[in-house]
Amino acid sequence: MEVVKTITEVRSLVKSAREQGKTIGLVPTMGALHVGHISLIERSVRDGCFTVVSIFVNPTQFTPGEDFEKYPRSLNTDLKICKDNKVDLVFVPTAEEVYGKEMLTWVNVEKLTEPLCGKFRPGHFRGVTTICAKLFNIVIPDVAYFGQKDAQQAIVIKKMVADLNMPLEIIACPTVREPNGLAVSSRNQYLSPDERKDAACLYNALQRCEQMAKSGITHTPQLIAEMRKIIEAAPTVKQIDYIEIVDTHSLQPLEKITDKALLALAVKIGATRLIDNILIDTTS
Ligand code: PAJ
Repeated sequence: MEVVKTITEVRSLVKSAREQGKTIGLVPTMGALHVGHISLIERSVRDGCFTVVSIFVNPTQFTPGEDFEKYPRSLNTDLKICKDNKVDLVFVPTAEEVYGKEMLTWVNVEKLTEPLCGKFRPGHFRGVTTICAKLFNIVIPDVAYFGQKDAQQAIVIKKMVADLNMPLEIIACPTVREPNGLAVSSRNQYLSPDERKDAACLYNALQRCEQMAKSGITHTPQLIAEMRKIIEAAPTVKQIDYIEIVDTHSLQPLEKITDKALLALAVKIGATRLIDNILIDTTS
């Protein structure tokens, strides 16, 4: 496994892999790797890719007052995880390597970045799409793997790739969960034992909603009210940013669930903001 810090080194190593006929798979991450990230790496390795993992805590996707400074960083453990999981190349750039001295060009996906997390994290998705566009241009992967855990992010990235004719495929992989249902996240490290226990209410609420929708209750205000009730019952829940039921393509709110829907929520447990979602299909 090679670990490199510069764009030049990435380009040269990817070029030789490609010359050997290999498919290039990219797993973009911000490090503090966990089983969710590992599931993406495993998928890339299983798909037979020359697997590139980028580890970069991207400053431009954090809004002022968010946790950029205290975001968990654990490079040595991350590199061991990459090695153990048969990653071929790890790209660990500095902010200067990625952004240079002056950045005047940004990628912004319209509309899809306005609802859900877009409402609460202004500029976040612009930071995400810009860093991903850069990583795609640096690595030039055939495939990039993203987690369904960040459903809006995966949808926004797919739209950017389609709209800008980027020559790669985006694969969204299932959310990996802890035994109590809590979606695994680097930010779960911030939770106290009580908060971690309470955080199971997010997935409980989503599952309850799916069950109700499948039993024929399709009017979304009623479903949202039920999810809110479950979440508000957890003592350490501090604030609900949103609980929404939206169209899986436009991310616009649905009045009624007719077949497919994305149930998505963002909740502050203590001081930690957690997101979760599930895709449901009431016809299957
Ligand atoms: P990060 O939060 O490190 O996540 C990297 C990738 O791992 C994302 O595609 C995310 O959806 C996926 N992931 C996280 N938790 C997961 C889980 N429990 N199950 C499955 N996949 C999971 O998302 C980012 O970084 C950044 O925004 C990034 C795309 C790297 C751009 O900076």
